[in-house]
Amino acid sequence: MDPAAPRHTKEMPHDTFPAAPPAQPAMTEPLILYATMTGNARDAAELLASQLRNSGLAPRVEQIPAWDPRRLSQEKTVFFLTSTFGDGDPPDTAFTFWDILRKADTLDLSGLRFAVVGFGDSTYPRFCKFGRDLDHRLAELGAKRLLPRLDCDVDWEEPFEKWLPRAEKAIQQPES
Ligand SMILES: Cc1cc2nc3c(=O)[nH]c(=O)nc-3n(C[C@H](O)[C@H](O)[C@H](O)COP(=O)(O)O)c2cc1C
Repeated sequence: MDPAAPRHTKEMPHDTFPAAPPAQPAMTEPLILYATMTGNARDAAELLASQLRNSGLAPRVEQIPAWDPRRLSQEKTVFFLTSTFGDGDPPDTAFTFWDILRKADTLDLSGLRFAVVGFGDSTYPRFCKFGRDLDHRLAELGAKRLLPRLDCDVDWEEPFEKWLPRAEKAIQQPES
């Protein structure tokens, strides 16, 4: 390759994450990944983290926008909390993540357990669409659902708080 050539070309669409990340040992503590526009998914992520800490776990809470989805193959358990914006689209900041994940056909997520919580508003025709798309794509890449997807409407607190003990219990189950 010409060393003088620019590193980012038009053929390399993901300026944020240009190369696959190096392999690392599997991360055993749960990861909570959220994408939000107005704060609901972030607040929920903090509630989930508290619940898991109460049961002796040490969850990491991070934002989807800072994340290269190819690193998911190094994770054991991930909770995804995300809203939907536009017309059933990811939050603006999660577009790069989603674009890579959508195209990552060789990504093997068979070692990953996951659960998705979508935040949306049922007055929109594509209620919680991004959460649904994400849930579907993760399973398509081989990841195993810890729990069925939860779709939260505008009054998300009560259903989410009811879901928390289920998440806590599910994570204690041995891997099948
Ligand atoms: C401009 C706009 C577009 C939205 N589009 C959708 C949508 O297509 N589907 C949906 O379920 N909710 C939609 N919502 C609702 C948000 O997803 C909902 O308010 C959610 O709780 C926001 O969560 P957040 O604070 O984590 O971003 C939209 C909200 C706004 C303001």
